[in-house]
Amino acid sequence: MSVSILPSLWTPQTWQSKPALQQPKYENLEELRQVVEQLSQLPPLVTSWEILDLKNQLAEAQAGKRFVLQGGDCAETFASCESGIIASKLKVLLQMSLVLVQGSRKPVIRLARIAGQYAKPRSEDMETRDGVSLPSYRGDLINRPGFTAEDRHCDPQLLLRAYERAALTLNFLRSLVKGGFADLHHPEYWDLSFARNSPLETEYHRMAAGITESVRLMEHIFGVRAAEMAAVDLFTSHEGLHLHYEQAQTKQVPRRDGWFNLSTHFPWIGLRTLDPLGAHVEYFRGLENPIGVKVGTSTPPETLLALIETLNAKNEPGKLTFIHRFGAGKIAAHLPRFIDTVRRSGKQVLWVCDPMHGNTFLSSNGYKTRSFGDILSEIEQAWEIHESEGSHLGGVHIELTGENVTECTGGSRGLTETDLDRAYLTEVDPRLNYEQALEIAMLLAHKMARSH
Ligand code: PEP
Ligand code: CO
Repeated sequence: MSVSILPSLWTPQTWQSKPALQQPKYENLEELRQVVEQLSQLPPLVTSWEILDLKNQLAEAQAGKRFVLQGGDCAETFASCESGIIASKLKVLLQMSLVLVQGSRKPVIRLARIAGQYAKPRSEDMETRDGVSLPSYRGDLINRPGFTAEDRHCDPQLLLRAYERAALTLNFLRSLVKGGFADLHHPEYWDLSFARNSPLETEYHRMAAGITESVRLMEHIFGVRAAEMAAVDLFTSHEGLHLHYEQAQTKQVPRRDGWFNLSTHFPWIGLRTLDPLGAHVEYFRGLENPIGVKVGTSTPPETLLALIETLNAKNEPGKLTFIHRFGAGKIAAHLPRFIDTVRRSGKQVLWVCDPMHGNTFLSSNGYKTRSFGDILSEIEQAWEIHESEGSHLGGVHIELTGENVTECTGGSRGLTETDLDRAYLTEVDPRLNYEQALEIAMLLAHKMARSH
């Protein structure tokens, strides 16, 4: 008997023969089929050029020459597809990236959790309230948050509605970025009106002025407008959870080899769906996109090695990012083993720290929350551990919003658990508000600056 060592045939559908976790149960499979067919006919949201450009930039981050800022909502909602909300999120990301450029003295890759972050993994398939059980809310891609049978019905048409909203969101972002909103000569465009009296305002404006000054100085010296430097770019990312949605936009493009997921630049595999023998890894292994995998305390070394082997057998630079999320109290006990395992594999990954998902707890007044102190501590420890293990932290992954919410405690305004009552808007995980997000960036920037 001969055993084949060649990887088995891959198509965008081969995942369907593997166990697929976290997929909704649709009643009408014919309707699902028709929706996926329609979705696959629609034009792409991103192009292979952009995807390969991001992969090259991530390869540089892997080599220590760039830093990644990945951030946005835990879940986008259809209701939040609105100009003010989208622009505010862009402003926060731009401000944070400016601060990180100063601290790291490196170009920052902005990777937004946006234009497709509509599906959520859930720990329970069903939710029970007062003796009534209904399917869990899985994100606006799948059903609705209200607790009625109608809202929780899994509706394939929502895949089309989500794709359209992703397109609207991206269209607006691209126009803002290309149209001059993201010009480093004018960081004042990124100011948020409600942040006028923020305790961080003075320091932020000092940093922003410093960058604008440097851009002007460069232009003066070289006598040209520093177009490449002065305009920033932005990439999109989302968790590639709903495999029919991802499959629909997975295509080949003229004059290039391989298959691209054209619904986003950077899809990632969530912690709950990283089984190397499962459907998600099967789907992701055929993509040309740079991809991420969330890893945590429950991920054994054999799994890390199998993921590297399956998802990046050729050790292509920039291809694979491990986004580690342990929790402030656990990172020190786990991260060194992860770094060591990857080193022994002889392959390279980009390391990004998600300081959010290992630090969630229930407040005494019943809110799912996170504390600023834990989030900061996990990032600082990640930075130090990578440094002392001879590795380096290549980026951070933050859940944030440009709105003035109160979902996480702490930060320079000292939000307490009682403040959570005031503006707790998330349907899923608690996000850092504008001030808290900017403060995290500033404290990380200080830490980076100290290690030059
Ligand atoms: C998320 O990023 O919102 C998420 C669910 O993360 P994880 O897969 O790390 O739990
Ligand atoms: Co989340």
